[in-house]
Amino acid sequence: MPMEFIPLRGDFAAEVRGLHIGVGVAPEQIESVEDGLARFGVLVLRNQCHGDDAQQAFIEQFGPPVVANLKEIKSRHPHFYDIGTVDEDGIPFPPGGAKESFLLANLLWHTDGSPMQPPTRVSCLHAKVLPPVPPPTEYADMRAAWDALPAGLQQEIDGLRGEHSYYHSRAKLGMTQEQFSQDTLNSRPPQEHPLVRHNPRTGRKALYLAAHISHVAGWPVDKGRALVDRLMAHATQPRFVYSHDWQPNDLLMWDDSWTMHRATPYHGAHPRNLRWSGVRERAPV
Ligand SMILES: [Fe+2]
Repeated sequence: MPMEFIPLRGDFAAEVRGLHIGVGVAPEQIESVEDGLARFGVLVLRNQCHGDDAQQAFIEQFGPPVVANLKEIKSRHPHFYDIGTVDEDGIPFPPGGAKESFLLANLLWHTDGSPMQPPTRVSCLHAKVLPPVPPPTEYADMRAAWDALPAGLQQEIDGLRGEHSYYHSRAKLGMTQEQFSQDTLNSRPPQEHPLVRHNPRTGRKALYLAAHISHVAGWPVDKGRALVDRLMAHATQPRFVYSHDWQPNDLLMWDDSWTMHRATPYHGAHPRNLRWSGVRERAPV
């Protein structure tokens, strides 16, 4: 069966039919997926039953894999983070612990891996364990958000750079520097990236934002934060957002260079586990 993209929200987000990563994926299929990512930003693959090795083999065809070594949320696997309420063995994360505090920031609009250089380019998330009514994950179309900005503002911000830091997003939720491991403090210094990215495949521009941005390089901190807050509010209006309702064994993948996303709150007792892996850009951004 040939691969098919079924749009879910106009030209943003699509369901992919005819692709099962557990049986191996040929290079020409990867090229089709790349085209799908460039067209739709977020891809939904239903009923994906596969092990970690298949997920890793799949994602590695898109670029250099992210090494999942953030000490606060590390799992046993070198390339996976467990998102949700339990680890890979089904053991609940300790309440109030560093892992829970760190993951709480997923409720803020962000792009994965933007506090790294090169940053994450493509992320994928596999629903392993879901509660009966899973909380949706929301995605914002930063390309449409860019297109909708007034021309004067586009001109003003194109060329500016924001500084991305894990500490900044976590501080918004009350996490203090002391709660970070020394390893993370040493290995994750803040990184600057442009506020506007250009997609070489489509030629289109997009905002590149995240809760991780602490300030705009070369600007007074307050002025830069006000600009970023204004852009974030603009880019996350409902008209730019696709909300994904999870089903068991969904595999979502998205292009971090022109989408933002956030988790929505979940307070249920039923365990929840989604396994994240990703690849980085091949060059600094
Ligand atoms: Fe994320």
